[in-house]
Amino acid sequence: MGTEATLLEVNAMKKYFPIKKGFLKRTVGYVKAVDDVHLTINEGETFGLVGESGCGKSTLGRCILRAIEPTEGSIKFRNQKGNVVDITELSPKDLRNYRRDMQLIFQDPYSSLNPRMTVLNIIGEPLICNKIASGNQLRERVKSLMEVVGLNSKHLERYPHAFSGGQRQRIGIARALATNPRLLICDESVSALDVSIQAQILNLLEDLQEQFNLSYLFISHDLGVIQHISDKIGVMYVGKMVESAATDDVFKNPKHPYTESLLSAKPVPDPRVKKERIVLQGEVANPANPPSGCYFHPRCKYAKDICRKKAPAFEEVAPGHFAACHFAKDLQLTGAAGQ
Ligand SMILES: Nc1ncnc2c1ncn2[C@@H]1O[C@H](COP(=O)(O)OP(=O)(O)OP(=O)(O)O)[C@@H](O)[C@H]1O
Ligand code: SF4
Ligand SMILES: [Mg+2]
Repeated sequence: MGTEATLLEVNAMKKYFPIKKGFLKRTVGYVKAVDDVHLTINEGETFGLVGESGCGKSTLGRCILRAIEPTEGSIKFRNQKGNVVDITELSPKDLRNYRRDMQLIFQDPYSSLNPRMTVLNIIGEPLICNKIASGNQLRERVKSLMEVVGLNSKHLERYPHAFSGGQRQRIGIARALATNPRLLICDESVSALDVSIQAQILNLLEDLQEQFNLSYLFISHDLGVIQHISDKIGVMYVGKMVESAATDDVFKNPKHPYTESLLSAKPVPDPRVKKERIVLQGEVANPANPPSGCYFHPRCKYAKDICRKKAPAFEEVAPGHFAACHFAKDLQLTGAAGQ
């Protein structure tokens, strides 16, 4: 797998949801939510995943956690001892151990915390479930986790309603950190927060990354946030990764027309300013019935005949820069203004 610094390598990942119809619930087709995706995340690195609503970002994240079963593909993960395992091949018992290494930070701090549980039990639950701590030891561990995320550890007997949105997100982060994970999947983790609170949580995530050498898969539709926090970026379109490279390369020198459209739709180049969802010209393709050839062709101003007939391969078009476009090497695309 990759180099020694590689923590996670996803290869040829597919997740097809069956579409069932009629009395007999026959499968009449598939929603190809994730369709042949590759990605690599190094230790201590943030991989930003961006794309319009419904392009498969959350499904990819959930497959990596094996919260849902991928249809095909491998998920290689380097464990604490340095050995590489394929998570898709683990038994339920072995998988439980790996779950400690990967945690999810939820989108909505208001609905993701159980209102009837105290902070002690919310943050401590993964420790109790994994039989890592109990009693006094548990209390002490929860207190130190609360301090790590900037919460007052005296408040551990309080319920979620006593906390603000930003504080609740900190509770969610403390809970995710409880098992000493190495990879955090942040799915729109700051999108529901006010702009100033967003900035605080992003800073906290960056501090924690440094402190614990964490890797992040950071999912967002917000390009400003993605640009601010990511080392590498992956752009998804209708279940496919269409471009991936170092953050600066994607922003200054995009190689895929879809990325160019996303960048041109970015209203303000300030990551701390809240923005609307991405809205582009034309209809986004339906993953249950995608167009022929390159899925982006009905919306692409550079499309030629071949684009309607042949799907482009996802390949390296410049050093470390991957794109799935027949003309990636020839097109002179415009990066984000002011970069
Ligand atoms: N359990 C499911 N059954 C059937 N289809 C699903 C299921 N979960 C997701 N999908 C479909 O898979 C596609 C990808 O959905 P997903 O939630 O991964 O997108 P997303 O990029 O996270 O979008 P958003 O930005 O809105 O969160 C969508 O077409 C969605 O309707
Ligand atoms: S392959 Fe063709 S349609 Fe697809 S992005 Fe490239 S130029 Fe546009
Ligand atoms: Mg999502």
